Amino acid sequence: MKSTSWIRRVLLASLVLAAVGLFPFTSLVAEDEAVEDPPIVQYMDVVNSTYKKLRKQARRLSFDGESLGWVQELQLNALKAMHEEPLMMAKMPAAEKPKFVIAYRKAMVEMMQQALDLEIALLEGRKEDAAKLVDALAKGKTEGHEKFTEEG
Ligand code: HEM
Repeated sequence: MKSTSWIRRVLLASLVLAAVGLFPFTSLVAEDEAVEDPPIVQYMDVVNSTYKKLRKQARRLSFDGESLGWVQELQLNALKAMHEEPLMMAKMPAAEKPKFVIAYRKAMVEMMQQALDLEIALLEGRKEDAAKLVDALAKGKTEGHEKFTEEG
């Protein structure tokens, strides 16, 4: 009898320890899953970080050797974002989706065009034109987010 209750206690203690040990681990896994953004958001985040660096330079017309690389990163990620579906489509009736996707792609094509023109302006050393194109990107962002995101 005595030895059975001793074994039970050890077993119970092991279970409690295992549960305590597992808890932070499982909660970490859940957090990891929660912080993973959908691809469209990840691509737009890169568009955002490169855009911000260019905007800072545009204010003082201080484009330099790094600007072209940022523009190229912005273009590549904008193109990837263009081929994803805006998140608000998940709740949209199926019949409305095709029209919405076309409108979204067209707006993203406009943005790509601005970003491509920005590359050429930088290559040709037309800094004022480049700064205007950075402004155009900002305007496109505001309008694009109004139409194609829930927050906008
Ligand atoms: C320089 C221009 C732009 C910048 C800097 C920019 C920035 C951003 C940022 C930071 C996010 C992530 C938001 C979050 O963390 O939830 C985002 C998401 C998004 N943006 Fe943009 N954006 C730009 C242009 C555009 C344009 C032109 C469009 C539409 C044609 C657009 C449509 C979206 C969409 C659909 C999302 C994903 C979120 C969702 O689907 O609700 N963005 N953008």
